[in-house]
Amino acid sequence: MNGIKIVTIPEVATIEEIRDEIRDVKTFYLSLDNKEIDKNFKIKSGQFIMCTVFGAGEFAVSLPPSPENDRFHLTVRKVGSVTNALHELKPGGKLGIRGPFGNGFPFEEIKGKNIIYVAGGIGLIPLRSSIVHVLQHKKEFGRVLMLHGARTPDDLMYKDNLKEWQSFDGFETYITVDVAAPGWTGEVGFVHTLFDKANLPIENTVAFVCGPPVMFNTVIGELMKRGLSDDCIISTLERHMKCGVGKCQHCAIGRTLVCTDGPVYTYRQIKTLGEQI
Ligand SMILES: Cc1cc2nc3c(=O)[nH]c(=O)nc-3n(C[C@H](O)[C@H](O)[C@H](O)COP(=O)(O)OP(=O)(O)OC[C@H]3O[C@@H](n4cnc5c(N)ncnc54)[C@H](O)[C@@H]3O)c2cc1C
Ligand code: FES
Repeated sequence: MNGIKIVTIPEVATIEEIRDEIRDVKTFYLSLDNKEIDKNFKIKSGQFIMCTVFGAGEFAVSLPPSPENDRFHLTVRKVGSVTNALHELKPGGKLGIRGPFGNGFPFEEIKGKNIIYVAGGIGLIPLRSSIVHVLQHKKEFGRVLMLHGARTPDDLMYKDNLKEWQSFDGFETYITVDVAAPGWTGEVGFVHTLFDKANLPIENTVAFVCGPPVMFNTVIGELMKRGLSDDCIISTLERHMKCGVGKCQHCAIGRTLVCTDGPVYTYRQIKTLGEQI
C-alpha cells in the first residue's frame, strides 16, 4: 500500500516525552525500539495504529504527525481502562505499536481544490496530519481554511500549532469558543457561526469535518445548506476495533469494515451506511 510496510505484530516503543494538551488529553512522543523498523515506519495521513498498553489492553488511535517530517506521536484522551493506563505512564515507559492501518485521506483526488477544515474539540487530532501535509504542499491547493471550535479557551487543542498556523501565509484560521474566559478577546459561539465571517468557498471545495456528534450534524447541515455536496465532505469514523486488519468484523457497519475501508469516508458514504456520527 503506497510502499507503506505494515507492522502486524506489536513492536515495542518507548515514550520519549509527554505533553499535556488539554484536560484529560496528552500527546505521547515515541520511538520504536527496533531502530531499523523505526526508520522505515512510514504512515499516510488519516491512517491509524493499534496501541498496546501492556497489562491493560489495546486501542485504536489516529496518527496526527505529518508523514513527511514530524516526530512520531499520538494524542490521546483518557476515556476508559486502556487510555487511563496510558496516561499513568511516564517517559521511558513502554508501549506496543502495530500498523499503520486504514485508507488515509484522498490527497491525490483533491489536488487543486479549496480545502476547509472544521474541527470541534479533539476532532483536531485526526485532522492535524492532513493540515500539516496540505500546508507543506500549499501550492497544490486553492484557498485553505481552518475553523476550530472548543468549549473554552482552555479546551483549544494544539495551542502551539494554532499559533504557528495563524501566522502561516495563505492559511486562513478562525477560532471560537462556546464560553469565553477572562482575557479571551476572540470569537464566542459554535464553530458554524464562523462560516459567514470566513466567506466559505463552495465551488471546487472539499471540507474535512471532525468533532462531537452535535457539532458534526450542525456543521454538515450548514455546509450542505450553502451548497456543498455530500461527496465533498470528508470525515473519519470511530469504532471499537480489535484486529484492525479486516478479520474479526468487530468494526463492521453493514458491509463496510471501518479498519480497512475506513476510517476516512465521504459524508455520502456515511449516509449510505445509515451511520450516526
Ligand atoms: C480510527 C480511530 C482513531 C482514533 N483516534 C483516537 C485518537 O487519536 N485519540 C484518542 O484519544 N482516541 C482515538 N480513538 C478512540 C479510542 O480508540 C477509543 O476511545 C478507545 O475505545 C479507548 O479505549 P479505552 O479502553 O481507554 O476506553 P473504552 O473502555 O473502550 O471506552 C471508550 C468509550 O466507550 C464507552 N464504552 C465502553 N464500552 C462500552 C459499551 N459496551 N457500550 C457503549 N459504550 C461503551 C466508554 O464509556 C467510553 O466513553 C480512535 C478510534 C478509532 C477507531
Ligand atoms: S477491527 Fe477486526 S475487522 Fe475491523
